[in-house]
Amino acid sequence: MAATLKLTPTSQWVSGGAGRSSDFRRSSLRTPARRSAAVTPIRASAYSDELVQTAKSIASPGRGILAIDESNATCGKRLASIGLENTEPNRQAYRQLLLTTPGLGEFISGAILFEETLYQSTTDGKKMVDCLRDAKIMPGIKVDKGLVPLPGSNNESWCQGLDGLASRCAEYYKQGARFAKWRTVVSIPCGPSALAVKEAAWGLARYASIAQDNGLVPIVEPEILLDGDHAIERTFEVAQKVWAEVFFYLSQNNVLLEGTLLKPSMVTPGADHKTKASPETIAKFTLNMLKRTVPPAVPGIMFLSGGQSEMEATLNLNAMNQSLNPWHVSFSYARALQNSVLKTWQGRPENLEAAQKALLARAKANSLAQLGRYTSEGESDESKAGMFQKGYTY
Ligand code: 13P
Repeated sequence: MAATLKLTPTSQWVSGGAGRSSDFRRSSLRTPARRSAAVTPIRASAYSDELVQTAKSIASPGRGILAIDESNATCGKRLASIGLENTEPNRQAYRQLLLTTPGLGEFISGAILFEETLYQSTTDGKKMVDCLRDAKIMPGIKVDKGLVPLPGSNNESWCQGLDGLASRCAEYYKQGARFAKWRTVVSIPCGPSALAVKEAAWGLARYASIAQDNGLVPIVEPEILLDGDHAIERTFEVAQKVWAEVFFYLSQNNVLLEGTLLKPSMVTPGADHKTKASPETIAKFTLNMLKRTVPPAVPGIMFLSGGQSEMEATLNLNAMNQSLNPWHVSFSYARALQNSVLKTWQGRPENLEAAQKALLARAKANSLAQLGRYTSEGESDESKAGMFQKGYTY
């Protein structure tokens, strides 16, 4: 049977059952020709070079990602916090404010959009995607279809969206998207069960492979929720397990790591833990966890903020950039970039300029943190306000 097998890593996983893969291993040890075939590099897609270039440009020094990929329902919550109705014109006005901020491209290398925004234009008729391109910001797109309960688990969830993903990605690429995001979550108080971790990791890997096949750099995001009263050591243990499993399945799916970005949560104590950890402690635990699990072939680690205050998220990022890291360590914040903007804007046209300045100030602070040069001197009270909500849905 071994003689009929095509000896590439892909055929080992895809065409064989357990028997075939052990035949493969035995025969590949015997014949030198087969041994060299066994180390054939990860399968290249037509987009390989472009994927590597895209990932590199997003992970460029002093820049990070602005995440504004809230579903319409979640965007509605943001708007409701300043007394605005959740209508398309209001979402357009808000996203236009963010994406047309003058000078944003100096600190922001990519913006993750929701589908509505990818196809939307500004009130002057310019495509939002073109506003980004002109600012040298790469447009990205959320491609998952959200979380639903995971049957047979301990009240955990799984992320939907693999059906039809290839054609959606191809369409998004045509619209100008060059990277994608898939967010799934792992809950510490709910277990996490082996089933939930495996499902999260496998789903992320399938998505990453499909996104790459269609020219989009996948952002791989298994968010370990802040919910819980556990100590930082417990988060470390869970995060290490989750990331190890994610990389196991990324490898099984032949995902090109050089064309992939990660979006982890920082390793912190649970939100209800009795003590808070300092930025130095968070940096130490987070970097240790990543060094144990993430190969240096990955170009960029773009953290989520997960309910931390704007200032906390910036201080923690800054602490992680006090050491030389094997990857670009940066941000892909939603809440920690948008909070002061919303509060400043209040939906009033006369506040537009001030709101854009607020965005630029946060983007600049995080840019400095990416370079390890941020100080919190002069930060507003607003930026210190925590944004954690129990059971937050995106
Ligand atoms: P936060 O920074 O609000 O946690 O955003 C997470 C996210 O996945 C946005 O794309």
